[in-house]
Amino acid sequence: MAFWQNPRWFDDSKRQEQIDDYIHATGKARFGIREYAEEKKAEAVRIHFDRVAPKYDFMNSLLSFGIQHAWKRAAVRMLDIHAGERVLDVCGGTGDLAILAARRTGPSGQVVIFDINRAMIQAGRHKIDPFADLGHIGYVQGNAEAITFPDNTFDCAMVGFGIRNVTHLKQGFAEMIRVLKPGGRLLCLEFSRPLNPVFRSLYDFYSFNIMPALGQLLAGSAESYACLPETIRMFPLPDELAAMLTDLGLDGVRWTFLTNGISVAHVGTKRNKFL
Ligand SMILES: C[S@@+](CC[C@H](N)C(=O)[O-])C[C@H]1O[C@@H](n2cnc3c(N)ncnc32)[C@H](O)[C@@H]1O
Repeated sequence: MAFWQNPRWFDDSKRQEQIDDYIHATGKARFGIREYAEEKKAEAVRIHFDRVAPKYDFMNSLLSFGIQHAWKRAAVRMLDIHAGERVLDVCGGTGDLAILAARRTGPSGQVVIFDINRAMIQAGRHKIDPFADLGHIGYVQGNAEAITFPDNTFDCAMVGFGIRNVTHLKQGFAEMIRVLKPGGRLLCLEFSRPLNPVFRSLYDFYSFNIMPALGQLLAGSAESYACLPETIRMFPLPDELAAMLTDLGLDGVRWTFLTNGISVAHVGTKRNKFL
């Protein structure tokens, strides 16, 4: 099949394989082109990010032609963070979203980077430390499926390009919502399916051919960058994700397409159970 026929985007049933119910039922979880036993995926993800951590920021900027920074700025703006607020950056990695949030909370607020992978946190330290005076940025190493904070702790919780790596997607979101205060805001910034079919074909070609080649050339691993496009194509589409977040306890979920939908930012507000 020719690349312009978009063979690479999965149908609804295939996307269900990324959802908790399917994973619980089958005991299998996919990470890109590979399938793992449910309990083994988190370890595979950890090893993957150990491998890519030293070059993560460089490769991200290169592969996105720098646009990822604009996406991150646009997404954090949607959260409307105020001075003094407490913000959790789940799957925070090297801390780009956390830095943007800390500029808004100021030193009277607090931002916590929560990530399973120590190497990713370490790789971002050189960026975070100079910003320490802008706000308190802390680090916690842990699994997004069991966030080690009490209920109703944060004003905002955000996740950028991380939730699709979490074995149980709904569980990860449910945890973010649990630690939000009622009325607190959640942001999810993720890759998605470009809207324009011609642009989508070019993007497919780039994703499956150029990206792994650049990964091999510049980071010494084609495989690490070959798994990325497939995880993106397994992820719920924007309306599916909005429905999931609403079911899990958010109100007013809305989303914005970035660069024709290569990325999508969703925000919503934690429902107050007692209203
Ligand atoms: C693609 S990076 C995104 C980093 C950062 N948010 C950004 O936008 O640049 C994904 C991050 O998710 C983290 N991660 C993957 N699975 C996780 C889990 N179950 N719990 C917490 N962090 C996880 C990885 O260690 C990695 O740092």
